[in-house]
Amino acid sequence: MTKFDIAGTTAIVTGAGRGFGRGVATALVGAGAHVIGVARGGAQLDDVGAQLGARFTAVCADAADTATAIELIDRYRPGVIVLAAGAAPRMGRLVEQTWESFSENWNVDVAQAFAWIRHALQRPLAPGSTVVAFSSGAAVNGSPLSGGYAGAKSTVRFIADYAAGESDQAGLGINVVSVLPQLTPATDLGAAAVAAYAAAAGVNPDTFVASRGAVLVPEQVGKAILEILAAPQRRAYLLGAEGPTQLP
Ligand SMILES: NC(=O)c1ccc[n+]([C@@H]2O[C@H](COP(=O)([O-])OP(=O)(O)OC[C@H]3O[C@@H](n4cnc5c(N)ncnc54)[C@H](OP(=O)(O)O)[C@@H]3O)[C@@H](O)[C@H]2O)c1
Repeated sequence: MTKFDIAGTTAIVTGAGRGFGRGVATALVGAGAHVIGVARGGAQLDDVGAQLGARFTAVCADAADTATAIELIDRYRPGVIVLAAGAAPRMGRLVEQTWESFSENWNVDVAQAFAWIRHALQRPLAPGSTVVAFSSGAAVNGSPLSGGYAGAKSTVRFIADYAAGESDQAGLGINVVSVLPQLTPATDLGAAAVAAYAAAAGVNPDTFVASRGAVLVPEQVGKAILEILAAPQRRAYLLGAEGPTQLP
């Protein structure tokens, strides 16, 4: 696989309104890509557009809807897709969950990975294209206070692995990668999880964060995704403040 040239590429980034997705959209535009940014909330996307200018196109849509995946892949034929949208899990012990809350990340994060990755292979995207799916460090470590989140994120990683194997087998040349970020208070979703784990440990969030080392921020996630897109071999990576670490 030759080094991927991001300049001039069309990239779709879901969850581009804030958090990691916004960090990835910013990094990709900075590297010369045209980014189609997807989220449900128009105001946050407008804010991103005002920052990034003409190389950012906002699309207000539900990324977990199969119709969104099909329409945007068919319309833009992207060289890169980054699936950074994800539902914020209801934080609470198992007995505090309902099946509705427990299954939410399956209905959003897993549904999104399934719909986009499946259509990327079926279409298929051009050889050399890459799909990056956001899993989580929780897929390895578990997350007892966030219901079905860790299991859903583990399934996102499995879907990416299966698709990478199918791409290899069919000679499609499509890279499918999962990334597993560490927990961080630097995004809305992460801050809620940090607050819950800090409360369960009987400490304040700052003390909890300080006990876990350097904090991962969206700018580092954007930079890490650029590194991964340029890497010759890609499959699954842990993402921490020190950069991406390839998993076996
Ligand atoms: N932050 C962490 O500590 C952490 C750790 C490991 C993994 N992750 C994963 O990293 C990804 C990004 O998380 P984040 O912390 O950046 O979250 P965030 O700050 O809550 O941002 C999530 C983004 O996704 C969008 N979104 C949510 N549901 C959507 C849907 N159905 N369709 C389209 N857009 C949707 C949100 O916008 P709208 O609500 O306007 O749609 C927002 O732009 C998620 O998959 C998350 O599970 C996060």
